[in-house]
Amino acid sequence: MIRSVVKGIGAAKPARVVKNADLEGIVETSDEWIVQRTGIRQRYIAGEGETTASLGEAAARAALDNAGLTPDDIDLIILATSTPDNTFPASAVDIQARLGMTHGFAFDMQAVCSGFVYAVTTADLYIRGGMAKRVLVIGAETFSRILDWNDRTTCVLFGDGAGALILEASEGRGLTSDRGVLTANLRSDGSHKEKLYVDGGPSSTQTVGHLRMEGREVFKHAVGMITDVIEASFSEAGITAEDIDWFVPHQANKRIIDASAKKLHLAEEKVVITVDQHGNTSAASVPLALATAVADGRIKQGDLVLLEAMGGGFTWGAVLLRW
Ligand code: ACO
Repeated sequence: MIRSVVKGIGAAKPARVVKNADLEGIVETSDEWIVQRTGIRQRYIAGEGETTASLGEAAARAALDNAGLTPDDIDLIILATSTPDNTFPASAVDIQARLGMTHGFAFDMQAVCSGFVYAVTTADLYIRGGMAKRVLVIGAETFSRILDWNDRTTCVLFGDGAGALILEASEGRGLTSDRGVLTANLRSDGSHKEKLYVDGGPSSTQTVGHLRMEGREVFKHAVGMITDVIEASFSEAGITAEDIDWFVPHQANKRIIDASAKKLHLAEEKVVITVDQHGNTSAASVPLALATAVADGRIKQGDLVLLEAMGGGFTWGAVLLRW
């Protein structure tokens, strides 16, 4: 059977680092509160000229270099983002042009913080369906541009950045020992809209709007939803938590990650944490964390890697892949 195998990974961050202490001058908060409640110590914030498309392009170029490929080798670009440069055209098409690609096709996917997990799942289906041989999957966000910088309950939590992964069609034997994407489980439930949303949009207010979140309500649902979808992945693949080499969760809050890992019996040393460095970068968080753990030598070829995300919608999902 055809498997979608990882060929390369890359990341890009804005130039400017904003430490928790830097936020103390903007809203009434403290480094101590932010670290204790979230685990976040700093985040990167896009400056003038840095946008979702420019960060996505930089991450894409890094992934192409890592894979030893050029844009000519790519058939499809899927960009997971909720903060596109424009309402349309899709920022994926902008990135396609920036890479000098006039062949193939590109589109955006919008599943907020679960966007990258949705995009990897979609790329896998295009590859296994035979419509694409190599897919560039990007998660890129500039959430700083939709934050209400007067609202301390949200503005301290998010950051900007991008990560990119290249998946390529490869022959597998249909076993969990195969390299590539092994299982994918996606879920959504739109009845939770008011707990996490942006209060504007082209068809409702003709504005971009700002992020609104009932943090405690999101927290209450997060662990249950995450563990449910991961348990579905385990039973589908016929594995247990012990078989996982690396757990790479969405980086929203260290307390949510720790509670999920504990409930699933995933050992602490197998959990990749970057929320302290990046904050919550929404659809960019999983590929940024993956790129970090590959660059520092933790994730190696053949490792069993579990990706997970939960976010606005609510949307949530998990992808199990062998690196
Ligand atoms: N600095 C200082 N104090 C603050 C801040 C701040 N930045 N923000 C809130 N507080 C105060 C509150 O006003 C409240 O004060 P009060 O007790 O006097 O009313 C107190 O701190 C506690 O507030 P809570 O909201 O109860 O704090 P909690 O422990 O729940 O932490 C947090 C808040 C970090 C937002 C947490 O609920 C959380 O992480 N939720 C989940 C977020 C998440 O996972 N999102 C994922 C998806 S994101 C996406 O899809 C885009």
